Amino acid sequence: MHHFQYRNNELHCEDVPVSRIAMEIGTPFYLYSYATLKQHFRAFDDAFSDVPHLTCFAMKSNSNLAILKLFALEGGGVDIVSGGELYRALKAGVEPKKIVYSGVGKTAEDMEYALRSQILLFNVESSQEIRLLDEIAGRMGKKAAVSIRVNPDIDPQTHPYISTGLKENKFGIDIRHALEEYARVSGLRNLTVSGVSCHIGSQLTRLSPFVDALNKLKDLIGQLRKIGIGVSYLDLGGGLGITYNQEDPPHPREYAKAIKDELHIRDVTVILEPGRVIVGNAGILVAKVLYKKTTAEKGFVIVDAAMNDLIRPSLYGSFHGIEPVRIKTRAKIKADVVGPICESSDFLAKDRVMDAFETGDLLAVMSAGAYGFSMSSNYNSRPRITEVLGKGDTYHVIRARESYEDLVRGETIPDFMR
Ligand SMILES: Cc1ncc(COP(=O)(O)O)c(C=O)c1O
Repeated sequence: MHHFQYRNNELHCEDVPVSRIAMEIGTPFYLYSYATLKQHFRAFDDAFSDVPHLTCFAMKSNSNLAILKLFALEGGGVDIVSGGELYRALKAGVEPKKIVYSGVGKTAEDMEYALRSQILLFNVESSQEIRLLDEIAGRMGKKAAVSIRVNPDIDPQTHPYISTGLKENKFGIDIRHALEEYARVSGLRNLTVSGVSCHIGSQLTRLSPFVDALNKLKDLIGQLRKIGIGVSYLDLGGGLGITYNQEDPPHPREYAKAIKDELHIRDVTVILEPGRVIVGNAGILVAKVLYKKTTAEKGFVIVDAAMNDLIRPSLYGSFHGIEPVRIKTRAKIKADVVGPICESSDFLAKDRVMDAFETGDLLAVMSAGAYGFSMSSNYNSRPRITEVLGKGDTYHVIRARESYEDLVRGETIPDFMR
């Protein structure tokens, strides 16, 4: 359920016509719906309300300060993967004790920053990282709380690039060696064992891989408790999928039920790290048609947004719905929606049957709220685009469009070349 609906053939974000925003701020832009974001966060968080839990929004999916603030006001925490994300989270007012730090390659500086900021815990992913964190915490006179991110070797049945819980993936510590690692951690002076964590992949549309992972983690907690290693957090990561096209993923309520039905474990707080399921369908990318072109082979609709703005189709071959911002009676065509970038992989849709758009028409790339802006870049020296938050009958620019000066900020031509 989201608040991008047609009224009188005009796409609206809540009560604002999308075309009005386009006219006032120009295209392309990301547009999020406040009510949808809030509703999605609540639907997820409330589904776990009868167990001790902490919903840590995976901010890699969308790290805009206004969006982080919205979830912080709802009582949420965040899952971070870099010092930069920690900076953003603190800036948005997320409570440090609701921040968990995941990621396979944390730097010493980032560890120091997180320790100074007194985050809840680190999800550690290798023996070397454990040693470094112990050393840094010791140097700072602090104790670092850690969960080991285990790799449970479970096939999440999703795109290979977003599968993370298989033994061939770079993530986590093989669950078969987890006991030894925990024993090692509990012997280290500057670390305390806090929990067990995993994240098996993204855009999962079935419940069984989550339940299988939970069962493996529960077994591990049981074994740890037997050897006197206490664990207070069980982090199941994120990964719940959304409908981009024909997918029929479980509702967060069903996801939560499946988890809770299997939980049966005393004295743990469940940590959840949802990203996509909260923001994915709460955002769209609005673009304008620049040109149409037909070759002997096929048709192209050339728009002003490109792979640097939304890389998912190029990177994963993902599907995003392409909808007109204003419905008109028109013929249908089969075409690719492409951007101005000099790469054949620069497409937002391929071989899609859609309205025969004309130059100047606006179109909406649907389900673009997750891994959209946050994965965008300046490739082809394209300034990153505006982000807008629609709320009721108003809208707010929550990130200004970058300027050409922004593009070269920080670059210098050495004196010898002048
Ligand atoms: C450690 C971790 N937690 C949570 C997530 C969020 O996943 P999703 O957006 O599919 O919920 C990711 C995504 O890659 C992740 O790596």
